[in-house]
Amino acid sequence: MRKGILLAGGSGTRLYPLTYGVNKHFLQIYDKPMIYYPLSTLMLLGIKDVLIISTEKDLIFFKSLLGNGENFGIHIKYEIQNKPNGIAEAFLIGKKFLNGDPSVLILGDNIFHGNELINKFTSLSKFNQGATLLAYPVRDPERYGVVEFNKKKEILGIQEKPKKPKSNYAITGLYFYDGTASEKALSLKKSSRGELEITDLNNIYLKEHMLKVEIMGRGMAWLDAGTCDSLHDASSYIRTLQKRQGVIIGCPEEIAWRKGWIKNSQLIELSKPLQKNDYGKYLKRLTINSKD
Ligand code: TTP
Repeated sequence: MRKGILLAGGSGTRLYPLTYGVNKHFLQIYDKPMIYYPLSTLMLLGIKDVLIISTEKDLIFFKSLLGNGENFGIHIKYEIQNKPNGIAEAFLIGKKFLNGDPSVLILGDNIFHGNELINKFTSLSKFNQGATLLAYPVRDPERYGVVEFNKKKEILGIQEKPKKPKSNYAITGLYFYDGTASEKALSLKKSSRGELEITDLNNIYLKEHMLKVEIMGRGMAWLDAGTCDSLHDASSYIRTLQKRQGVIIGCPEEIAWRKGWIKNSQLIELSKPLQKNDYGKYLKRLTINSKD
């Protein structure tokens, strides 16, 4: 079974002073903490074993928010990354948890939304060899890992935060790996900015001709909430869609219930402390007309 790693450490310096006292992933994206969104994405992929990696001082808060995952019908484990030594370090920290299984890595400040996404995910999830990345066209590729294609849309390379990007396709914070990622990560060296770069890991796969990049279309939204503006934009986006459509985006309780991972009676219990707000009322409404 594919396992999930959710990386929720980092220092959040671009969000100072918001993140002086609070880990970025607890900040509000409209009506729920940021971490609900990447966790929901993993769950939508059918992933039930999740490792959350964060700093030692913050793990206590993640544990009080999410516990062992049983409320969402999943299993959550925790590991420490005290310093942001780079995204690829997730595979060294998570080596024991993965135990050679294929995985999905998601960054804690990445929000994915859209139907096309789910379809793509479902076919990608079955792919257990090599690595698959998602590329998304952006206006400011120099902020990201950028993929260079030839005319046949074959990958020529990936550059981390290039000054002169060779395309406008940024690599998103959702990565699919086969069971060799931890083994490969062992050979990585720190980059000039002192990090174990995910781009270097991906380039190992590329050298072995085992790297695929899927281009995301217009039917999918990808937001990262690492700056004050993008945090605000993400909140507005979620609020607008939720108000218009009457659905809740990034609702782990609903996903667990729809997947049959928790029963109707559990969802009713989970909705009780939330009855004063729309989130709780929404959960309760879901259960009406359903039987255990
Ligand atoms: P970044 O946005 O690159 O870093 P950051 O969160 O520390 O923020 P800033 O640049 O403002 O200081 O990280 C992207 C995501 O990956 C974010 O959710 C934090 C996470 N992350 C880790 O958990 N560990 C790491 O070593 C790195 C580099 C990132």
